[in-house]
Amino acid sequence: MRNDIAKILVSETEIAEICDRLGKQLTIDYQDKEPILVGLLKGCMPFMSDLTRHIDLMFEVAYMSVSSYHGGIASSGDVKIKMDLDISIKGRDVLIVEDIVDTANTIVTIIELFKHRGAKSVKMVTLLDKPEGRQRPYQPEYVGKVIPKEFVVGYGLDYNEFYRNLPYVGVLKPEVYNK
Ligand code: IMP
Repeated sequence: MRNDIAKILVSETEIAEICDRLGKQLTIDYQDKEPILVGLLKGCMPFMSDLTRHIDLMFEVAYMSVSSYHGGIASSGDVKIKMDLDISIKGRDVLIVEDIVDTANTIVTIIELFKHRGAKSVKMVTLLDKPEGRQRPYQPEYVGKVIPKEFVVGYGLDYNEFYRNLPYVGVLKPEVYNK
């Protein structure tokens, strides 16, 4: 598996620093609130797990499964809800937890949906941001690291469901998806 990685883009140490920094910031910003953290499956899992242990607040956690890739390395732009939330977000402060923002098709669709459902506020925290990939204007409120427009895997991010278990984020060798 590790032989398929061309280079490490975000190391384990850097991921730990990001979780610490963002967790501290969220603890300050949501001090007087009781937010719901909504993780978008499956990519959010390691980040949700590590980040939440740095947020010193009362909050709830919920998950939703959405898909815009349908396999491969490019967004189809067609966002499907595969598993919906099991709680109401009406009147609540929602913080969406994502692995990466690329085209922003996924996040913009989910934010519109959550506002339509009556959320009091909807913000997002993402481990990675690839602003060069945008198809819609969107700036996440909390960003771990801005990266170039490369296809990355690891720490929750997959290629055809593999590589999620790498402890770092790395660039996949193009020959892996070109074969
Ligand atoms: P967007 O809708 O294009 O912003 O993409 C968001 C989703 O696409 C993320 O939650 C990931 O699941 C997936 N994605 C975007 N870029 C990458 C990447 O470089 N590697 C793996 N998955 C990615």
